[in-house]
Amino acid sequence: MRKKIVAGNWKMNKNLQEGVALAKELNEVLTADKPNCDVVICTPFIHLASVAQIINPDIIGLGAENCADKEKGAYTGEVSAEMVKSTGAQYVILGHSERREYYNETPEILKEKVLLALANGLKVIFCIGESLEERKANKQNEVVKAELEGSVFNLSAEDFSKIVIAYEPIWAIGTGLTATAEQAEEIHAYIRSLIEAKYGAEVADNTSILYGGSCKASNAPELFAKPDIDGGLIGGASLKAPDFKGIIDAWK
Ligand code: 13P
Repeated sequence: MRKKIVAGNWKMNKNLQEGVALAKELNEVLTADKPNCDVVICTPFIHLASVAQIINPDIIGLGAENCADKEKGAYTGEVSAEMVKSTGAQYVILGHSERREYYNETPEILKEKVLLALANGLKVIFCIGESLEERKANKQNEVVKAELEGSVFNLSAEDFSKIVIAYEPIWAIGTGLTATAEQAEEIHAYIRSLIEAKYGAEVADNTSILYGGSCKASNAPELFAKPDIDGGLIGGASLKAPDFKGIIDAWK
């Protein structure tokens, strides 16, 4: 049975002290009231090693928000998958629309990043999703199909099983606009059908597909009740422990 997951993406928020305090609070809250799902927090690189010391890995997983598309060497300012892994992190988010849009990450670059992350034992939370213009033109299915084909459908079935998919419609990210549970379910089911066509029913059944985009405690129960929505990738609402806990509790 596939995992239910609530993952936080802190993006470029929280200095080191603030991030450590948030991780500590979250660890305390979830130790006192154990979650019914896997919980992951994805933090800026600089937080990883400190946060890894604070959280109980049986309760909270840890991930980075990005990694380099090169193995090692003279790439000033970059952080490799191996470095991420060495902090104690188990996950990395790749393909986020903000990375694609603002940092020009192409399907080819993302393909390299995915391969390096997997080679270094990281699980990948791979993000896909359409823009508002693409949704208006009813092109969302084409877009997510191309994103999967461009960066992860080259993997073996064994490697693909280490991928979590996050469907994040760009028009819903940080805008307060959420896809309706029906809209999200429709495309999640489509994504699962693509995985089934490529890797077969067992792999498709075992792949967790998360929804992301203005997900909060008030709309999470309705979204998570859908059969093909296996949890959420949470931005803004992951920055305060009570808000994040409210979403985690949607699985109870
Ligand atoms: P918000 O939850 O702030 O809309 O962000 C979603 C997101 O981009 C998570 O990766």
